[in-house]
Amino acid sequence: MALCGLSSFSLFSFLHLALLASFCFAADPFVSNELRVSYITVSPLGVPQQVIAVNGKFPGPVINVTTNNNVAVNVYNELDEDLLLTWSGIQMRHNSWQDGVLGTNCPIPPKWNWTYQFQVKDQIGSFFYFPSTNFQRASGGFGPIVINNREIIPIPFAQPDGDIVIMIGDWYTQSHTALQTALDAGKDLGMPDGVLINGKGPFQYNTTLVPDGIEYESFNVDPGKTYRIRVHNVGLSTTLNFRIQSHNLLLAETEGHYTIQSNYTQFDIHVGQSYSFLVTMDQNASSDYYVVASARFVNESLWQRVTGVAILHYSNSKGPAAGPLPPPPDDIYDKEASMNQARSVRQNTSASGARPNPQGSFHYGQINITDTYLLKVVPPVTINGKARATINGISFVKPETPFRLADQNKLRGIYKLDFPSEPFNRPPVIDISLINATYKGFIEIVLQNNDTTMQTFHMDGYSAFVVGYGYGNWSEDSRNSYNKWDAISRCTVQVYPGAWTAIFISLDNAGIWNLRSENLDRWYLGQETYLRVVNPEENGETEMAPPDNVLYCGALKGLQREQHHSNSAASIFGGGFNIFTLLLALFTAIFISG
Ligand SMILES: *[C@@H]1O[C@H](CO)[C@@H](O)[C@H](O)[C@H]1NC(C)=O
Ligand SMILES: *[C@@H]1O[C@H](CO)[C@@H](O)[C@H](O)[C@H]1NC(C)=O
Ligand SMILES: *[C@@H]1O[C@H](CO)[C@@H](O)[C@H](O)[C@H]1NC(C)=O
Ligand SMILES: *[C@@H]1O[C@H](CO)[C@@H](O)[C@H](O)[C@H]1NC(C)=O
Ligand SMILES: *[C@@H]1O[C@H](CO)[C@@H](O)[C@H](O)[C@H]1NC(C)=O
Ligand SMILES: *[C@@H]1O[C@H](CO)[C@@H](O)[C@H](O)[C@H]1NC(C)=O
Ligand SMILES: *[C@@H]1O[C@H](CO)[C@@H](O)[C@H](O)[C@H]1NC(C)=O
Ligand SMILES: *[C@@H]1O[C@H](CO)[C@@H](O)[C@H](O)[C@H]1NC(C)=O
Ligand SMILES: *[C@@H]1O[C@H](CO)[C@@H](O)[C@H](O)[C@H]1NC(C)=O
Ligand SMILES: *[C@@H]1O[C@H](CO)[C@@H](O)[C@H](O)[C@H]1NC(C)=O
Ligand SMILES: *[C@@H]1O[C@H](CO)[C@@H](O)[C@H](O)[C@H]1NC(C)=O
Repeated sequence: MALCGLSSFSLFSFLHLALLASFCFAADPFVSNELRVSYITVSPLGVPQQVIAVNGKFPGPVINVTTNNNVAVNVYNELDEDLLLTWSGIQMRHNSWQDGVLGTNCPIPPKWNWTYQFQVKDQIGSFFYFPSTNFQRASGGFGPIVINNREIIPIPFAQPDGDIVIMIGDWYTQSHTALQTALDAGKDLGMPDGVLINGKGPFQYNTTLVPDGIEYESFNVDPGKTYRIRVHNVGLSTTLNFRIQSHNLLLAETEGHYTIQSNYTQFDIHVGQSYSFLVTMDQNASSDYYVVASARFVNESLWQRVTGVAILHYSNSKGPAAGPLPPPPDDIYDKEASMNQARSVRQNTSASGARPNPQGSFHYGQINITDTYLLKVVPPVTINGKARATINGISFVKPETPFRLADQNKLRGIYKLDFPSEPFNRPPVIDISLINATYKGFIEIVLQNNDTTMQTFHMDGYSAFVVGYGYGNWSEDSRNSYNKWDAISRCTVQVYPGAWTAIFISLDNAGIWNLRSENLDRWYLGQETYLRVVNPEENGETEMAPPDNVLYCGALKGLQREQHHSNSAASIFGGGFNIFTLLLALFTAIFISG
């Protein structure tokens, strides 16, 4: 009998099973994870500091699932402040209740736990999770997510001999709370203290630049084998150039879509982006090789220490890596080089994605645009004496009551739906203003970066076709340069300073979805909004109902019951236990025995 969750049945009580029955679908297997989020002290750059670990590990463990799995992740907040994890790139079809940002979820209070329940419907690829509130990503709390293909769907390359996850990111030795204090005071965060690779500092490639005793990451490989290397930039705000000495990076996938496979010797990975490369160990093993992630679009002679260095170690290696690092791209006077590299990332339209039909079967280039949003960002401004960042002149306030929960409970005045579809001349304001988006619309969003730094933008709930990049002001004529055939579809896009990036999104996922700057400082200062995508005929069938264990906060705080913290089964009564759950339990019991 195909009952979801049955394979792990022994792990669960009837009550748990009942909880699952409310979200999983027949035949799609159930997988569960427990993530305990706590502080640990480590010294990645030689200075002891408190970081956020998951299950005692920094970075956290991989969530390894397969297309269409029903996933439960029980998150225990063992920090001393509120926590929310978000699942970058996981689409949460019609289920924004699980997205894990303040506009969709109440934070998990300290000492509480909360179980996320979602299906990784029709998705494959490389993603990651991270804490979405309180600037916590600056202290860690992140980890990879891998969604494997179902066995019946072929991947567009030979099965790799191994899988290696590499999390890179700029890093400060100050805590996330100290960094927030600096931003609140209107300061710039300044140059990071380094780049970490899988939570570790650089290999001592130069005794002047790297102190003694730093623990570095080392990847053990066998000669002749090909590995799928999944690289995620989980840092705050620095674009990193990734390269492996003497090895080609064969680009294969980005954020859930297979690319045209082509070789690169170095690749720019912007904040929040994920890529899979196929790397063949085709070099002689006369020594180990450097794996480098160095700061990009900065003065490299000043930013030398903002360089992550790990080691690629062949099993038959004759000695350590030595000599200078492979050089960064030499194109500081060539603004187009990085943009051209971005344009070269194209979708393999004939490859199957999560479904057997080719990724290119949705002919996005022939669909009429229903709405255009021109979203412009400028350098931070002062509003009411506070340093704030804006989109179209609006700096977003940290929500206290999740928007859809407010809708469900018929609360008014929690948010406005008047986000302007283009920049206009008025003094900047601080507000909670959402985009009133049209369910089933097909929209064009142009991100115009009038700031002086590289920015990335992330769209929750969707994957967007990245149809164009260009310098200067976007205009209607810019549409002539769009890629209408094989643009990559992804969830996180870079917008070069003084330039624009255009994306197309098919609004088929009902819910309320965060659109934000993925640069942590800009996001913190208010550079975000949400798209409200609600079926006007919503009759309880398009969107999922809030989960049984939904948390209440803000204006709805009165509805939340205390959570008990014993390990006994009684704890569930503190969450979402109700008569509905009990009925489901009985129903499920009958279903199993039948
Ligand atoms: C993930 O699960 C697949 C099977 O579903 C397994 O082959 C693979 O080794 C696992 N990867 C990790 C990193 O655990
Ligand atoms: C908290 O964890 C317990 C198991 O330790 C689980 O029974 C309970 O459902 C979880 N609470 C929520 C709200 O998910
Ligand atoms: C695209 O995918 C097809 C089908 O899996 C594969 O045979 C082909 O090699 C891929 N092409 C490129 C250029 O990556
Ligand atoms: C180490 O880095 C310093 C500072 O950039 C440089 O002057 C020196 O030449 C480097 N040493 C070696 C051995 O490369
Ligand atoms: C990529 O480079 C490898 C050598 O590292 C080579 O074997 C392979 O044919 C190249 N693939 C493409 C598509 O250029
Ligand atoms: C091994 O490869 C390295 C890097 O490609 C090269 O510099 C070196 O000469 C080679 N050594 C031998 C013994 O082939
Ligand atoms: C980078 O910084 C160095 C040292 O301050 C300076 O001499 C150099 O001119 C700068 N380079 C650029 C391209 O601004
Ligand atoms: C798209 O718009 C054009 C012109 O406005 C119209 O002729 C065409 O029928 C539309 N196509 C679709 C698929 O709606
Ligand atoms: C949002 O858009 C819908 C349909 O386009 C419209 O009917 C509704 O009045 C709008 N709501 C607000 C508050 O502007
Ligand atoms: C870009 O647009 C702004 C108005 O938004 C204008 O002031 C500026 O001159 C334009 N820049 C260029 C290069 O056209
Ligand atoms: C920002 O806009 C101003 C005025 O529109 C323009 O002069 C300036 O060049 C722009 N800067 C960037 C980095 O886009």
